[in-house]
Amino acid sequence: MDIGTVRGDFPTIRKGKGIYLDSACQSLRPDQVIQAVVEYYEEYPACGGRSVHSMADRVSDGMDRTREALASFFGTDDPDCFVFNKNCTEGLNTAARGLPLKRGDVVVTTDTEHNSNHVPWLVAERERGIKRRMCRSKKDGTFDLESFKSCIGRDVKVVSVQHTNNVTGCTVPVKEVVEIAHDAGAIVVVDGAQAAPHIPVNLKDLDVDVYCFSGHKMLGPTGTGVMYGKKEVLESMSPLMVGGGTVGLVSADSYNNAPVPDRFEAGLHNYAGVLGLRAALEYLGRIGMDEVRRWDSLLMERMFKGLEDLGNVHVVGPSDPKEHSGVLSFNIDGLSSHDIGMMLDSMAGIMIRSGMHCSHPFYVSRGIDGSARASTYLYNSVDEIDVFCDTVVRISETFGD
Ligand SMILES: Cc1ncc(COP(=O)(O)O)c(C=O)c1O
Repeated sequence: MDIGTVRGDFPTIRKGKGIYLDSACQSLRPDQVIQAVVEYYEEYPACGGRSVHSMADRVSDGMDRTREALASFFGTDDPDCFVFNKNCTEGLNTAARGLPLKRGDVVVTTDTEHNSNHVPWLVAERERGIKRRMCRSKKDGTFDLESFKSCIGRDVKVVSVQHTNNVTGCTVPVKEVVEIAHDAGAIVVVDGAQAAPHIPVNLKDLDVDVYCFSGHKMLGPTGTGVMYGKKEVLESMSPLMVGGGTVGLVSADSYNNAPVPDRFEAGLHNYAGVLGLRAALEYLGRIGMDEVRRWDSLLMERMFKGLEDLGNVHVVGPSDPKEHSGVLSFNIDGLSSHDIGMMLDSMAGIMIRSGMHCSHPFYVSRGIDGSARASTYLYNSVDEIDVFCDTVVRISETFGD
């Protein structure tokens, strides 16, 4: 990967809009994605899958091609196993509400889930009578396989885990988790919001049953999400919303569901977003996900090195940068995470995230009230990381305890 060429593709970088280290929230978008969105609005701003005129045909064809691009990017055969929605959260809610669970069925999650893979299961407990069992992470936030194994039994119907954590950047050994869960007869739902943008994900190889992620964290337009599911699992699930597009035959008193994936895609779509998402997948495909992972790792090592001698700076998560997949969360003694975020912005135009990152159980169980989080992606340069480290050094020496 030529970092100069990559950086040249991103308008906010070309225009010098600051150092963006908040990619775990949303990534920047390259020209190619913006162009695909603009082209839709300028050339064929019609609906897909409904009208049969030429503009609509082009949209329908574009939607199909995005599904094909998804199948190829994620190593699967069937494009119809990919459902478009607005974000990872919607996919996880669809699974928690729609999977065929009955009162007393056990769902296993972890204590480090994002609220989007925690709260939907709390609601399922309250409204559907399922039982939750949470496996405990190790002290440094990494996945504890032994704790996970101790949660598994024949009463477990679903295991729902994150692939990569948004606070620590640690990746769960999903393949092993799936093997253990399947042996016990459970299906596996994976929150891939942070893994899909940063590491190669082969869904066939992982053998997961449901995999949800957001396009906007992987160079795609805002408000794009995808829920992948094995055909038979999707067919067993009820949709979150119904209406136009989700049904086959409808009479005054009855309806039947359209085939998968249509039954999950109620109403008109974010067509511009879906078309832009294909451009994002093509962009990442050209670079290669191994290369994206290598670059993330190089930047993380640089960040760790830049901060290693600071006694009042504390990393949240393991001490090995290799485990951090583009995410470094940290605190400085005497400062709140929001103080750190505002100082980085005002002193050097560095944009990070601060607070609890929608992972309240993680912070509350460790007695921490949040952290600053710098997250990188393929467009960040080594120079940017150096500016970030120098600025953290200045903040910690001048304002920290
Ligand atoms: C691990 C994880 N899961 C789920 C989500 C939710 O993603 P979205 O807000 O795009 O639905 C996020 C967002 O940051 C995340 O980091």
